[in-house]
Amino acid sequence: MTTAASPSRAAGRAQSREKIGQPVQTQGQMRGRTRIETSVVDGLGLARKLRAEMAAQVAALTGSAAAAEGAAAVAERPAASAFHSGARPPCLVTLRVGEDPASRAYVAGKHRACRRAGFTSRNLELPANTSQKELLAQIEALNQDGEVDGILVQLPLPKGLDAVAAACAIAAEKDVDGVGPVNAGRLLVGGAGLFPCTPLGILAILDHYGVELRGAHAVVIGRSNIVGKPVSLLLQRRDATVTMCHSRSRNLPEICQSADLLVACTGVPRLVKAGWIQPGAAVMDVGATYVNGKSGNLEGPVGDVDFEAALGRAGLITPHRRGVGPMTITMLLRNTLDAWCQRMGAA
Ligand code: GUN
Repeated sequence: MTTAASPSRAAGRAQSREKIGQPVQTQGQMRGRTRIETSVVDGLGLARKLRAEMAAQVAALTGSAAAAEGAAAVAERPAASAFHSGARPPCLVTLRVGEDPASRAYVAGKHRACRRAGFTSRNLELPANTSQKELLAQIEALNQDGEVDGILVQLPLPKGLDAVAAACAIAAEKDVDGVGPVNAGRLLVGGAGLFPCTPLGILAILDHYGVELRGAHAVVIGRSNIVGKPVSLLLQRRDATVTMCHSRSRNLPEICQSADLLVACTGVPRLVKAGWIQPGAAVMDVGATYVNGKSGNLEGPVGDVDFEAALGRAGLITPHRRGVGPMTITMLLRNTLDAWCQRMGAA
C-alpha cells in the first residue's frame, strides 16, 4: 500500500527503521518481489508549519502582534535582544530578467510566501536585453540599501548574462540564495553562513521524516551550484558518504542502486527508473521540468524520477508537486529572517 503520509506517522515509522535503505514494512510477496510501503513526503504541510512559526517570530519581533509561540521561539535567537517593538519587517528583493514564464510563476510564489509570513518584498523586473553592467549596478544599489535584507537573482538568466558574476556581486550578508563565493566557501570549509535553499529544504525534509544520514550512502545526481554541489556538501557535513554524479556518469543505474538516499537534480524528466532505486531508499526529487506534451502544449512540471514506478520501491519519496518546491521557498524565508536578525542585531 502507498500512503500520502502525515509527517508524524512517517517520522515515527522512519525512526523505527535501523537505517534508511531497508524495507519500511513488507506487504507480502508480489511476484517474488518484496513490496515496500512508500511514504510520500508532504512538503507543503511541513512548509506551512515552518512558515507559520516564522510569521509568529516576525510578528513578535516587530510588535505587530504578541504571538506567544513566536516570542518563545525568538527567545532562542541570539540577536533577539537587540530588537525593539516596531522594528521594520524582513525585506526580500528579487531581480528577474527577461520573460521566462516559469521564472515569473516561481518569483510570484516567493512574494506570496513573504506577504503571508509578514515580510515585505519587492520584485525588480529587467528586460531581456539588460547588460551585465546594468545588472551588476542594480545589485550594487540593493547591497547599499539599508532597508533590504535579502537579494535573489532569479535563474536562469537570459543568454549573454553571467550568473556567476551576478552571484559574486551580491553582498555576502544579503545572499539569501547562498550562491556567492563567501557563503559557498563557508559551506565548503564547514562554517556558518547562508546556504542554498533547495538543499536546506531537502535536509529539513530528511530530518523531519527521521532519515538517518550518518554513515548512509547518499547519491546525488546533478552538479549545479545551486542544488547538486551544495546538497552534497551538506550531506557530507552530516556524516553521509556522498557520491556526486551527473547525467553523463557511467553506470548511473548501478551507482544509484547502492544508495540509501538518492537526490535527483538533473532536470532530465523521469531519468531515474524504479529499478535504479534500492528497495526502501529515501528519494528526493528536485526535478520540475516542463515538457512538450502530445497535444503540443507544455506539460508539467515533470520530476527527475519516474514517481509512479517508484511507489512500492522507495521507502520515502518526494512528489514533484508539493514536495521539495514549497520547502525551497520556506528556506528562502528562513535565510531572509536570519539575514534580518543579523542586520537588526548589529544595528
Ligand atoms: N530558479 C529556480 N530555482 C531557483 C533558486 O532556488 N534560486 C534562484 N536564484 N533561481 C532559481
